[in-house]
Amino acid sequence: MKIGILNGPNLNLLGSREPEVYGHKGFEDYLQSLEQRFPEHEFRYFQSNEEGALVNALHNFAQDCEGIVFNPAAFTHTSLALADAAKSVDIPIIEVHISNVYQREGFRHKSYVSPAAKGVITGLGLQGYELAVRALIV
Ligand code: DQA
Repeated sequence: MKIGILNGPNLNLLGSREPEVYGHKGFEDYLQSLEQRFPEHEFRYFQSNEEGALVNALHNFAQDCEGIVFNPAAFTHTSLALADAAKSVDIPIIEVHISNVYQREGFRHKSYVSPAAKGVITGLGLQGYELAVRALIV
């Protein structure tokens, strides 16, 4: 199965950004271990700090992949454009958040993307991405 992993703004700073919330590991390192764990599956990875680039990436992954693991980061809570793009995609999307957004500020409790997602994983750290992959490949 070909799986697209899509990360939103500031997730390029994983490892150094608020490590008490997001941990000490950078995403590129984690991705390598994820790919090794699923050698029979193929991964595409894209990260952007820009909303339009994430919309385009969803469109591209929809053409190229069979499932998407999506952490929209702060755009989760603000972006109608990403909500519409996610709705337009006809392959399954698993929404992932590293932190437990429900233990955090109230503005993080609303996700515009969740209605279009097959499932949502929040608060399990980077392991959430692996669990999302497992949910897609069953
Ligand atoms: C996040 C949670 C969001 O509220 C936040 O803006 C992020 C990361 C997470 O993975 O826990 O940037 O999506």
